Amino acid sequence: MSVKDLITVPDDILRKKSEPLNKVDVNEKKLIKDLFETMYHHNGIGLAAVQVGILKRVVVLDVSKNENEKKPLCFINPQIKTLSEKMSTYEEGCLSIPNTFIEIERPEICTVSYIDENGYKKEMKCAGLLSTCLQHEINHLDGKLIIDYLSKIKKDLIIKKLSKQKTSNRVVV
Ligand code: NI
Repeated sequence: MSVKDLITVPDDILRKKSEPLNKVDVNEKKLIKDLFETMYHHNGIGLAAVQVGILKRVVVLDVSKNENEKKPLCFINPQIKTLSEKMSTYEEGCLSIPNTFIEIERPEICTVSYIDENGYKKEMKCAGLLSTCLQHEINHLDGKLIIDYLSKIKKDLIIKKLSKQKTSNRVVV
């Protein structure tokens, strides 16, 4: 297992669509373990494979607040089946967009079909924070980011700021 480097905005790979997995074998299981390790290392509550540069439809989540009681969840090829009309709002951050929090309204409840880490087909009803996180991660699989929920002006400002931060460590000797 290993902690992977995080891909951050404005890297173009974050805009690409991820491909479905057609099997859950040794390599896929290793990827899932690496995703969990990377997510926990960075104190995230969700991570999509594309955020470590792998364009596969794999998402890991753990929205449990208790350090001692981890609740790891893995969704392979997740597909939203239903969305509630009732909405809820959270201030969302993203490991690929440092120091940025955006208030986003999303359906409060969703049902999702997926393959679990053992290759079994499953369905889950998700509510509250879990529902929001899952929708956020599925957005990643389709190349969509939280900054896309902002006006173009605000979005461009954030990208500009992050692009500058990226080069601030650059030294010319
Ligand atoms: Ni994210």
